[in-house]
Amino acid sequence: MKILVTGAKGMLGQDLCPILEDEGIDVIETNRNNLDITQYENVVSVLTELKPDYVIHCAAYTNVNGAEEEKNTAFLVNETGTENIAKAANN
Ligand SMILES: NC(=O)c1ccc[n+]([C@@H]2O[C@H](COP(=O)([O-])OP(=O)(O)OC[C@H]3O[C@@H](n4cnc5c(N)ncnc54)[C@H](OP(=O)(O)O)[C@@H]3O)[C@@H](O)[C@H]2O)c1
Repeated sequence: MKILVTGAKGMLGQDLCPILEDEGIDVIETNRNNLDITQYENVVSVLTELKPDYVIHCAAYTNVNGAEEEKNTAFLVNETGTENIAKAANN
């Protein structure tokens, strides 16, 4: 089984990936540099190329205070980015 993890360098991703690997799962660790979830074409291209069985979506904008000042960025990552992952995974 092949699982693609977004935000693999984040707190959750760093905890999760080794656990999946210990289970013998083929883990594709992605981060902002090789999979920017805010870019739909990038998301589609990566998922189409790598063909994971599942996607575990750990990428997020998590700076709670920063989100007050960077509302657009928080929305772009957490809403649009998540929508991009869901849509592309459903293709
Ligand atoms: N940690 C917890 O205890 C906990 C508990 C419950 C739920 N959660 C949820 O789990 C999720 C992840 O939390 P976390 O604590 O792991 O947060 P985190 O440490 O801030 O990690 C989030 C990751 O998302 C990446 N990211 C941000 N924008 C991106 C983009 N446009 N494209 C691709 N990657 C992007 C970040 O990369 P950069 O560093 O480059 O920005 C970072 O590596 C959140 O939804 C959070 O609410 C976490």
